[in-house]
Amino acid sequence: SPAVSQEPFKFVANYDESKIPAYELPALLESGDGSKIQNAQQWQQRRQEILTLFEDHVFGVVPDERRVEAEVVRTDRDYRPGVTRFEFDVIIHPIAESTVGEQASIQPLRLQVLADVPQSSEPAPAILGLNFQGNHTIDSDPKTRITESWVRNRRNSSTDGNRAIEGGRGVASSRWPSELITQRGYALVTLYYGDIDPDYDDGFENGIHGTLRPFIQQLPDNKRPGSIAGWSYGLSCVLDAIEQLSELNIDPERVGVLGHSRLGKTALWAGAADTRFAMVISNDSGCGGAALSRRAFGETVGRINRSFPHWFNDQYTQYNENESAMPVDQHQLIALAAPRPIAVGSATQDEWADPKGEFLSWQLAAPAYRVLGMNAKAVETVSTAKMLEQQGVINAGPMQYHLREGKHDLAKYDWECYLDLADRTLSQSTP
Ligand code: GCU
Repeated sequence: SPAVSQEPFKFVANYDESKIPAYELPALLESGDGSKIQNAQQWQQRRQEILTLFEDHVFGVVPDERRVEAEVVRTDRDYRPGVTRFEFDVIIHPIAESTVGEQASIQPLRLQVLADVPQSSEPAPAILGLNFQGNHTIDSDPKTRITESWVRNRRNSSTDGNRAIEGGRGVASSRWPSELITQRGYALVTLYYGDIDPDYDDGFENGIHGTLRPFIQQLPDNKRPGSIAGWSYGLSCVLDAIEQLSELNIDPERVGVLGHSRLGKTALWAGAADTRFAMVISNDSGCGGAALSRRAFGETVGRINRSFPHWFNDQYTQYNENESAMPVDQHQLIALAAPRPIAVGSATQDEWADPKGEFLSWQLAAPAYRVLGMNAKAVETVSTAKMLEQQGVINAGPMQYHLREGKHDLAKYDWECYLDLADRTLSQSTP
């Protein structure tokens, strides 16, 4: 057999616009068979085609079916004046049909969810987002349960090896401004992403992968779901639980899904795969999220697959240093949110995530919204120069983009932008 080069991969990120390779993006409004998409009905077919391409070439496949039970474990009636804090469990069972013989040995997966809900006669709209370090890190509440799942060893007082500990209470509070969110009339629902699937490479075995094992085993190897698909599946399970638990007083038809960074990639995919999410929010999601892959600016497909081999499916590695061979690009992922409200947020110093590439793919998704009846002119005509110079918010109906001054982070200002879009699109309850 031919000798395989053992040379380590040397990666140097490109940050020079003039060195971006010439590229041609896959068409948004043209089917695989060449026919043009001109109306909503044709878009529905095209949408399915794009969704399948992302499953097969990027994220991997999860079952359509979910077997979910839900149970409230704590109700703190006046956690803050006018706000109830709930903790509830989402229990994900192995799915029935593909379990021949094996079902008995597979344990259900239990997720711990926290929800702050403004008290009101009407069920509240909500923002659901995964957190990086555990529910106990969103504020100092001594009652919030500490996750028992694997966490990244932070080598500080918030972790003991790979376990979360008391010292972590409140450490992520700047990212979760619950008071702001509930004051504006929204519930905040959050859970630790590692409860769904631990964020390390174990060959698609643990977490949700264990629960779905019989389903995953019958897939071709290169279509097995990575962690992003697993986290997204978990988000859909949480939405199932919200539907079941009417005592939360959250309106399941007005739940937006939000995520930062790797969890922003996840929010985009969750919103694409599950159209029950009423709004999709990508904060600094970058490569594999909102940023156009073909620009190869900052983080690239090759780099992300080498650093995080467990996030995507194995097919995705075919596009390492070979983005132009991808049958999709990220503007199509954003378009899968249409006609629902979509917010894409970037930060000026977050070059690794390619803010301009995030803006461009947001803009290039507008034709899908246009086909579905939105007046897309304000989006399609804004120049990149304008976007970079104004560092403000650009919006047109359900599509919003903002560039924040500063670093890779989920900041209060980002939340304000997202809640503004929610006010314009989600605040009215559906009769
Ligand atoms: C790394 C990774 C990014 C990811 C980020 C994060 O920087 O390269 O793709 O978005 O981690 O999740 O914070």
